[in-house]
Amino acid sequence: MINNILNNINEFIINKKVNNFNYIDCTLGLGNHFNNIYKTFNEYINKSILIDKDINSINLTINFLKQEKIINNNNFLLISLNKNELIENDYLNYKFYFINENFKNLINYKFLTNEEEILIIIVDLGISMYQIKNELGFSFNKDTLLDMRYDKSQEITAKYILNKYSQQDLLEVFNKILSYKDTKKIVNEIVKYREKKEIETTQELNKIITKIFSAKFLKDYLQKVYLSLRIETNNELNDLKEFLENIPKIKNKSLFFIISYHSLEGKIIKRFLKENNLKYKKEKPSKDEVKINKPSRSALLWIFSNF
Ligand SMILES: C[S@@+](CC[C@H](N)C(=O)[O-])C[C@H]1O[C@@H](n2cnc3c(N)ncnc32)[C@H](O)[C@@H]1O
Repeated sequence: MINNILNNINEFIINKKVNNFNYIDCTLGLGNHFNNIYKTFNEYINKSILIDKDINSINLTINFLKQEKIINNNNFLLISLNKNELIENDYLNYKFYFINENFKNLINYKFLTNEEEILIIIVDLGISMYQIKNELGFSFNKDTLLDMRYDKSQEITAKYILNKYSQQDLLEVFNKILSYKDTKKIVNEIVKYREKKEIETTQELNKIITKIFSAKFLKDYLQKVYLSLRIETNNELNDLKEFLENIPKIKNKSLFFIISYHSLEGKIIKRFLKENNLKYKKEKPSKDEVKINKPSRSALLWIFSNF
């Protein structure tokens, strides 16, 4: 998607005669988008506000950007979760702000910009490859604890959901992604298992799912079960809804990019755009990008501006 984004920023600069803007990356991850955008448009960018719920990703990206010589010890500030009291002018003197925060709270950080300044705001939803490979519980290919939190300070984990949610609540979790018939089978097996023992690891969850579905379709079911649990653990759909609801409060002239990966996210974004009469473009990654970056095959880039 990065080429689509770069082309659209370029068009935006030309069409709207933009001289400079603040860049807000709501889902920094390992900073691939930021790195590319910064290298291409750095003479246009005043401040960069780089947000992620996951402090591990932020710390890794800070190290990476130091190596790239984009940031140094004097030009960035790292702000930790829920420090909304930071309204002091002292904090306005940096070029780069890393914020360990939920993007649904972006509106609280409006003080970092002045309303005259143009914003480019990017949200790349979901999970990064780094998290799938290195953090606990996201991958059914590795035996780890069922954690699945982006924000390690929150209490709810995937393990909590599987062991503590009522049967009815579990039905709702899985039925968002799976059919009601399959959901019922899955929830029945989970409830049977947890009567004897807590479900703690990915291997235990895989065992439960393997009992229900034939080997031919197993991978697809595992993917959907893990996706449902990840969405619930991280409150992903509600965070997206709250973020979108706050957009009309942003008074700066802004260009938005949102990358969605499944139809539940797509529906929420489309409804928001229609309800707010916002004109939008929707783009898919090029075939070349899909070849290099497989997860991008399901990605959709939503582009809109508020002026
Ligand atoms: C698809 S990855 C982003 C990859 C990034 N665009 C890059 O170029 O490397 C999504 C990131 O968003 C973060 N994330 C997910 N939901 C979030 C939320 N509500 N608030 C802040 N960060 C969130 C995840 O921790 C993850 O690092």
